Amino acid sequence: MTWTTAERYRSYKSYSEDEKTKLRALAKKSPWRSTFHIEPETGLLNDPNGFSFFNGKWHLFYQHFPFGAVHGLKSWVHLTSSDLVHFEASGLVIYPDTRFDNAGAYSGSALPMGDTLFLMYTGNHRDEHWVRIPYQLGAVVDQKNQVTKCPEPLIYPDFSQTTDHFRDPQLFRVQNQVFLLIGAQTVDKEGKIKVYRAENDALTAWEDLGFLNFSDEKMGYMIECPNLVFVDGRSVLIFCPQGLSQAVCEYKNIYPNLFVIADEFSVSTDNRLIGAGPLQNLDDGFDCYATQAFNAPDGSAYAISWLGLPDTAYETDRFGVQGALSMVKKLSVKDGKLYQTPVEAMKKLRYNERKIQLSDEGIKTDNVFELEFKLEKGTSQTLSVLTDEKNDAALRLQIDSTQLVLTRNYEKRVSHVKIEKMNIFIDKSIFEIFINDGEKVLSGRVFPNENQHLIKSEHPLTIKMWELKK
Ligand code: FRU
Repeated sequence: MTWTTAERYRSYKSYSEDEKTKLRALAKKSPWRSTFHIEPETGLLNDPNGFSFFNGKWHLFYQHFPFGAVHGLKSWVHLTSSDLVHFEASGLVIYPDTRFDNAGAYSGSALPMGDTLFLMYTGNHRDEHWVRIPYQLGAVVDQKNQVTKCPEPLIYPDFSQTTDHFRDPQLFRVQNQVFLLIGAQTVDKEGKIKVYRAENDALTAWEDLGFLNFSDEKMGYMIECPNLVFVDGRSVLIFCPQGLSQAVCEYKNIYPNLFVIADEFSVSTDNRLIGAGPLQNLDDGFDCYATQAFNAPDGSAYAISWLGLPDTAYETDRFGVQGALSMVKKLSVKDGKLYQTPVEAMKKLRYNERKIQLSDEGIKTDNVFELEFKLEKGTSQTLSVLTDEKNDAALRLQIDSTQLVLTRNYEKRVSHVKIEKMNIFIDKSIFEIFINDGEKVLSGRVFPNENQHLIKSEHPLTIKMWELKK
C-alpha cells in the first residue's frame, strides 16, 4: 500500500477509536513481535531520543508514527527504566501540535538541568506550500514527568549556512558548559555538524561556533543524528552520514552509522576533535542507525540504536508495524578500540542455563535465547541459527580465523576480527551478535518462517545457552 503525503500527515486527532483498535489487532497478528526489545504497539518506531538519567531513573524516548509502517507525522514516546533492561512506557509525550513542529517532532536529546530534564528536538515545520523550516525546539520534563514545550524556538535555521536539512540536536556538558551538535547539510550540499555553546542556563540563547572539524573527507550530502560521548577518557563521535563515498569508508547498508575516536573535544582550537582517528562502522550487521549515546552521572557511556534503516521496507510492514530498539549497550575503549557490550543487567533475563554439545543434528528453540561460545585459535565453524530440518537458515555465521561472514537469507555482511568469543541474542525477529565482548557488533532484523527454529553447527561446538525472560 502506498501512502499519500496527505495520509502520512493526517492529524492524530482525526483517527477514530475504531481505526486505532483495528491497527492494534493487525499488529498483534505479526509472528515476528519481539519479547524483550522495545517495539511500538502499532506503527513505526525509528530513532531513540532523549536517552538520559534524571530523577533517579533512566529516561528514553523514541520517534514514533502510530498509524502505519511508514515515516509519517512523528511524535515522541517516553519510557523510563530502573535497570536499562525493563522499560515502562508512559505513552506519547511530544505531539506535533504547534506551529513549529506541525509536520513532525523530530529527533533530539536530553540533558538534566537542575531539577528538570531539558529536551531539545527539531520541529519539522512545513508551510502551506510544503516548504520546510527546521526549528530547534525545547521542552522541559519536571519531577512528575510532565513535559512542557518551550513557547519559542531556541535556534532558528540560518539559510545562508545550511539548507532545510538541519536537525537532531544533541546536548552535552563539558566542564560546566553546555554544548550542542546539530546534523546539517551545508548550502553546498555537504554533510556537516554544527556546534553551539549555551549562553544561559535556560538554554534559550546559543552561540554559533561553526562546524565541527573531525575529518578532512567529504561526509556525503547530509549528516543525521550526531552525538559526542566521553568514553574512558576519549571523545567518541557517533553519526550517520548520508551519501558518503565508499572510498571514504566502506559500508554495506543504505546509510552507515559511523564513529570516530578522538583524544579531545576542544572548542578553543577551531572546534576540533583533536586526534580524531579513522572513520569506522559502529555495527557490521544489517540494520543499525541513529544510535544515541550519553554519559550517565558516574561518567559511564551508554548507547542504544534503532534496529532499522531509513528508506527500507520490512516484513512486519504488512502488519502495520516497523522498527525496534537495540538492547542498551555500555561503551568502553580498550587498546584504542570501541567496545559495545550489553549492560550487565541483561544477565537478569537469563534462565535455564544449559551447556550443549551442538552438531548438525541441531537443537530446537523458541527463537528467544542467548548463546555463548568460545573458539580455539584458528578454528573454522559454521553456525546456522533460525534454521530448519533441511538446514535452510534465516541466519548463518561462517567463522574463520580472521572474520565472520553473516548471511541473512542470501545477503552477506563481513566483520573482520579474530574471533575468540561470541554472544548471540535472538528475540524472534531481532539478532544482536557481540564478538569478543563487544569488539564488533552485528545487529539486525530477520524474519524466520514457522519451520526456522533450530540451531545447528557444522562441526561439534560446545555452547552455553540461556532462555531469556519475556
Ligand atoms: C533519522 C531521522 C532524523 C530525523 C528523524 C525523523 O532517522 O531522519 O534525522 O530527526 O529521523 O523521524
